Amino acid sequence: MANVVTQPKTFLSNKVDHFTESVIREMTRQALLYGAVNLSQGFPDFPAPSELKLASHDAIAQDVNQYAINWGSKKLRNAIAAHTQARQGIRLDPETEVTVCCGSTEAMISTLLAVCNAGDEVIVFEPFYENYGPDSVLSGAKPRFVKLRPPTTTEGEWTFDAQELRAAFHDHTKAIIINTPNNPTGKVFTREELELIRDLCVEFNVLAITDEIYEHILYDGTEHISMATLDGMRERTVTINGLSKTYSVTGWRVGWTIAPAAITNAIRKVHDFLTVGAPAPLQEAGAAALTMPDSYYKKLAEGYRQRRDHLMPALVEAGFRCFRPRGAYYVMTDIGAFGFADDVSFTHHLVKDIGVAVVPGSSFYLDPADGAQQVRFAFCKRPETLDEAAERLKKLRRA
Ligand SMILES: Cc1ncc(COP(=O)(O)O)c(C=O)c1O
Repeated sequence: MANVVTQPKTFLSNKVDHFTESVIREMTRQALLYGAVNLSQGFPDFPAPSELKLASHDAIAQDVNQYAINWGSKKLRNAIAAHTQARQGIRLDPETEVTVCCGSTEAMISTLLAVCNAGDEVIVFEPFYENYGPDSVLSGAKPRFVKLRPPTTTEGEWTFDAQELRAAFHDHTKAIIINTPNNPTGKVFTREELELIRDLCVEFNVLAITDEIYEHILYDGTEHISMATLDGMRERTVTINGLSKTYSVTGWRVGWTIAPAAITNAIRKVHDFLTVGAPAPLQEAGAAALTMPDSYYKKLAEGYRQRRDHLMPALVEAGFRCFRPRGAYYVMTDIGAFGFADDVSFTHHLVKDIGVAVVPGSSFYLDPADGAQQVRFAFCKRPETLDEAAERLKKLRRA
């Protein structure tokens, strides 16, 4: 062998250096390792609706087992268009404005890859669902964060400063990501807030990318407002949604984008080369899911409201300061009472010694210090799971 005089290459892309592995998924692995109750990752531990399971069996039995049309089966795209019209009053063309992806995760990255150029900026509210940072980096854009400030009381709302938001918009801003109902805060953006964002998008010619996967999980009379329904936004909004949360099938990996035809065309190109398509039989079952009656959605939200109201008192009793979520299925909490230096050491103690897995707050912030006294609980679990977690949390000692 010839003498090697140079250092071996690392073979790794610089892009990957700019983000770490998902903390949320890592916490699920730790929960398994320590036998902890898993209130970290947002997936239900109860069965999916039987109608969906039967529809997926039927599709496989009827041999819907090959590639679907790569931007989504016609049946599912038609069902998405019908559902969107019925719920949001938006008429859309399923032939040119809908792209079915492998979950909303792929819908988001395909969208960002389709619209961003190097040097573009993408505004992201912080704390943020942890994929948005790496998604922006992978697409060549720079995320620019705008703070959502926690309420001072349990019943208060997370808010942003209008001036800070305005200051984030400038010439290089390509898009703003909005997630309502929001993970991790449970915030449901109000019409006034969305109108303010709309006005900035129009003024600065910016695209809104809205992740609305918790649209049906709302509490306390809050209303979901879809950005695309606001005047002037239909042509500058990509709406992202999926089956995972509404139908309790996070493992199926079916999501979609709704966007004007030119943007859809670009998203479809990226999507085609990234994944070719989402699972064909599960798309058929997805079309069946979208015809569920209104009572299904009411029951879904009510079930989660009961779980929220079941878990929160146990958290307060154990010493957490809670921020009451108005939507989605997470509670952000303040851990100041326990006297830990940071959220990561507290989370480690919780999973290893107490037997409950949660997500450290720092994973939702650019600067870990901002989330150092917060952790997030997911309550999309059976009452027995929440009871078991509550029982274990009684062992926690306050400082
Ligand atoms: C805000 C948000 N967007 C997207 C996802 C992932 O959705 P999907 O399963 O459709 O990829 C999650 C999952 O927790 C989420 O909380």
